[in-house]
Amino acid sequence: MTIKEQIEQLRAELHRHNYNYYVLNAPEISDKEFDDLMRELQDLEEAHPEYQDENSPTMRVGSDLNKDFAQVVHKYPMLSLGNTYSESEVADFYERVRNTLNEDFEICCELKYDGTSISLAYEDGKLVQAVTRGDGEKGDDVTDNVKTIRSIPLVLHGDYPPSFEIRGEILMPWVSFEALNRERESREEPLFANPRNAASGTLKSQNSSVVANRKLDAYLYYLLGEHLPTDGHYENLQVAKTWGFKISDHMKKAHSLQEIFDYINYWDTERKNLPVATDGIVLKVNSLRQQRFLGYTAKSPRWAIAYKFQAERALTRLNAVTYQVGRTGAITPVANLDPVQLSGTIVKRASLHNADIIESLGLHIGDMVYVEKGGEIIPKITGVDKEARGMLTGDKVRFITHCPECGSRLVRYEGEAAYYCPNDTACPPQIKGKIEHFISRRAMNIDGLGPETVDLFYQEGLVKDASDLYRLRAEDIEGLARMGRKSAENIVRGIEASKSVPFERVLFALGIRFVGETVAKKLARTLGNIDAIRSGSIEALKAIDEIGDKIAGSIVSYFAEPRNQALVARLEEAGLQFRLSDEEAGERTDLLAGQTVVISGVFARHSRDEYKQLIERNGGKNSGSISSKTGFILAGDNMGPAKLEKARRLGIRIVGEEEFLQMIGQE
Ligand code: IVH
Repeated sequence: MTIKEQIEQLRAELHRHNYNYYVLNAPEISDKEFDDLMRELQDLEEAHPEYQDENSPTMRVGSDLNKDFAQVVHKYPMLSLGNTYSESEVADFYERVRNTLNEDFEICCELKYDGTSISLAYEDGKLVQAVTRGDGEKGDDVTDNVKTIRSIPLVLHGDYPPSFEIRGEILMPWVSFEALNRERESREEPLFANPRNAASGTLKSQNSSVVANRKLDAYLYYLLGEHLPTDGHYENLQVAKTWGFKISDHMKKAHSLQEIFDYINYWDTERKNLPVATDGIVLKVNSLRQQRFLGYTAKSPRWAIAYKFQAERALTRLNAVTYQVGRTGAITPVANLDPVQLSGTIVKRASLHNADIIESLGLHIGDMVYVEKGGEIIPKITGVDKEARGMLTGDKVRFITHCPECGSRLVRYEGEAAYYCPNDTACPPQIKGKIEHFISRRAMNIDGLGPETVDLFYQEGLVKDASDLYRLRAEDIEGLARMGRKSAENIVRGIEASKSVPFERVLFALGIRFVGETVAKKLARTLGNIDAIRSGSIEALKAIDEIGDKIAGSIVSYFAEPRNQALVARLEEAGLQFRLSDEEAGERTDLLAGQTVVISGVFARHSRDEYKQLIERNGGKNSGSISSKTGFILAGDNMGPAKLEKARRLGIRIVGEEEFLQMIGQE
């Protein structure tokens, strides 16, 4: 077999396994076997850039090349659907279709997926372009990002037309959405309100490797083109399924209004068991010939309509607005409500998000307000029943100007929606919040300590920051609020044990703004010890993969603060881990400090991943693309001709495998 055939065979095999796994949900091989095949293909492709292919399964991993999106005019405009919340308007639609067609017809009933729409163009069975809806006339070319979505086929199989478009919805499944928000919460980044925003935000990411990590999914529901297999919309999608597309299994053809209502009623409750968000039902006349006959209005087809489920909502009284102070000082307004039943739970409080939202709702104390849970985790107030306002309605809600806990004047930072209490040295919830974060499970994970105990110790004046914990003795806390000798000893033992928690978690526990678990890990592993981090300049920090201005700036200002320097010093003194263990540190050096390295070609002594690690372990930074910032290129055999040319043009040094190993003292 020639190399070319070998590559092609691997690609076909990987495409098939992808399809089995992501579309059919029926993998035939283990993840490890899959990864091995992928690696084999990656190596071959690296060695033979002449067989490069835009649709190779290796394109799924994304790249960290930044790019703005090109705008593309849709070949067929992307229309929206007429919307209704009422069953009687569904009946009107049905009657209108019946009267216009004056012959038998079928209605295809589908779920209305609540994500972000996408149009995919295929030529000769290959994905050539993926474009967002945009304004309906033109959208953004997000092809590179879409290629990372495993349930979207890059290469089709079977008997597909030479050229067509298929449209559908890109979704973030609930589980991925929740995991993403947990991660963002730990980094104190704003949460996504719902999976739709998370999916569209992700799709617009400038970095396709971010997209690749975020586990998006896609369902396709609309085929367009000249030579479609049949006259039936439903039937065409079933055929498209055989080409490799993920098509919903919940489409159903209805032959009467009653069948449509049965479908609606069934899914109104059953949709809660689906892995992705839906917000309604779409009804489409099934025959394409009949669709053409019915035609379009200016905005939407006459042959389809969307029935939207009423977001579950309740009407209740707003009794007060209180304000919570988080560990960073961010102020969150909370609506206190008359308890009300909403999708199975009793709601007493709802988020009001920020001052702008309060302002736009025009809230008054005593107002009757609508609370919704649709898709969101925390219930929110979506409207006010102004008609219900009467004599007893109280004052207009005005956002506070001073911290409810310590009285400091609140500040608002440029570009942020939230107000902050700037008094981070003495504002109690900020102090307690920082300690609570410090002891939390993903940080120091101190057994026996929780928010109540922290509160207690703080009240008693025993702890004012995390370092005070390490001075506690069992006799200091025994007897406080019914605490027995045993629990007291338990807590002290837990605190003692936390001294062996690894450096990366200690770093996370410090609660530096924007330094979540992932960033903490990255910092710990690349810089190796606290000295390198606290003395790092913005530039030095930014040289680390995934760390930009925002994070670097936050780290530098944290360590510029004498109070933080003192806290870290006390924690060091207490014996916490402030450097990687010898084992983890391995052969860490600064030999490549400040150097950005691009790897290209195939290597004999180590794999590419191993070289990437070696670069980071020696203080360098990896990059996928050659630019004037590239320090040198680590080149194996068969470096791609385009890269070679670019390197020559920019005068960038090319370093061979052996030379590189000498550079880092491994020879
Ligand atoms: S068909 C011309 N089918 O709802 C008809 N749309 O306003 C094209 N959507 O932008 C759309 N599920 O993002 C269709 N099963 C489904 C759908 C669906 C969700 C979205 C789509 C579209 C919007 C309609």
